[in-house]
Amino acid sequence: MSLAPQELENNASKYASEAIKFDSQGARGMAITNYQKAIDSLVKLLQLYPSSKLNALYKERCNSYHSRIQSLQKSHGVEPAVDPDATPEEQKASVQRQTDENDFEELIMKEKPNISWNEVIGLEEAKSALRESIVYPTKRPDLFPLGWPKGMLLFGPPGTGKTMLAAATASEMDGYFINVDASSMMSKWLGEAEKNVAKLFRMARKYTEKEGKPVILFVDEVDSLLGSRNSEVGGEVRTKNQFLTEMDGVNGKGKDLMMYVIGATNKPWSLDWPFLRRFQKRIYVSLPTQPARESLFKQYTADLFLTPRVNPAELAKMFDGYSASDIKDVCQAAHIKTVHELFDAPDYHEPVEGEVAQKPRALTTADFRIIMARRKPSVSTEMVRAYHKWNDEFQAL
Ligand SMILES: Nc1ncnc2c1ncn2[C@@H]1O[C@H](COP(=O)(O)OP(=O)(O)O)[C@@H](O)[C@H]1O
Ligand SMILES: [Mg+2]
Repeated sequence: MSLAPQELENNASKYASEAIKFDSQGARGMAITNYQKAIDSLVKLLQLYPSSKLNALYKERCNSYHSRIQSLQKSHGVEPAVDPDATPEEQKASVQRQTDENDFEELIMKEKPNISWNEVIGLEEAKSALRESIVYPTKRPDLFPLGWPKGMLLFGPPGTGKTMLAAATASEMDGYFINVDASSMMSKWLGEAEKNVAKLFRMARKYTEKEGKPVILFVDEVDSLLGSRNSEVGGEVRTKNQFLTEMDGVNGKGKDLMMYVIGATNKPWSLDWPFLRRFQKRIYVSLPTQPARESLFKQYTADLFLTPRVNPAELAKMFDGYSASDIKDVCQAAHIKTVHELFDAPDYHEPVEGEVAQKPRALTTADFRIIMARRKPSVSTEMVRAYHKWNDEFQAL
């Protein structure tokens, strides 16, 4: 059976952080292999959910791994890989991309993700924390003489909506969104690491000062950049220290600066205290509650055909312990099952003109039960306990 989307996303992050590790150790070949695997996982994910709203972020990530691969090949005297089937313009653009590696302006997302707060289900506390810390101060900075929190860390199990929350923050806000997932940042920073960190923050500052609009720097999977238990190579330590210094600049003398750093992580325990304390708001993005699961089932079955007896509240009870993204996968899997049945039916035929095309049968609760038996929650109970424990100790709202 093919991989579930959540697994693909996990794999993509795993390969990306492996790639970075090898990259920072100068192991080019292994770095390239792992960046490529990360790209492959993301591409599969894009194909599975072609209309997912996070795809813009995933695509950007692919591009950044891709340029890193190319620059690794180039720096080794290997011809930059150009797609032989591409038009001359496209080939030129691709080579251009490689030479523009240090052009940080490209990191500003021209097309912001288009996700509203309402589409992010549950997580009311997280949503209001983000809204309050970003929206209010940007509207009335005069009401915050002591400044306001600029660093926000979203932590919690995979597939619970951290990336989605950041994307919603960006799209609900009139401002700039800089999407630097830690892996791509690391690869951009390698070599001239700390200079580039400074450059990145300088660029962000320039934008907010010039336009008077907030700039959000979103660092997804921030742990892969700043982990305390990584075997840190010289460059990494300097990069991390520069990052901390920049955060201090934003928190301190730039207290009126409308610049925010949102970090997201599935592994909060791998972050050390010097890093954590720069993120004054630490927000737990937990597994969905019963009412949230109910809304998730409503949302993800909205376009499906259900028998009237299917009851979202009942489904929500059955799927206790499943993440939001698990629930989305479950709905997709249940639906696909009926589509397969349709294709396999003896009387199935392609639609002929003037005839109504055959449709899959309505989904029943039993279909969901079958999927449940096949698919365990992607977060184990021990993991959930670990998140709760970390939350008790380090949450800051
Ligand atoms: N709170 C949520 N509400 C609605 N959908 C969600 C939620 N959390 C996750 N999803 C679904 O799961 C996918 C992955 O979510 P994501 O935000 O990447 O999780 P995380 O960053 O916490 O690993 C999203 O594209 C979305 O379809
Ligand atoms: Mg994510």
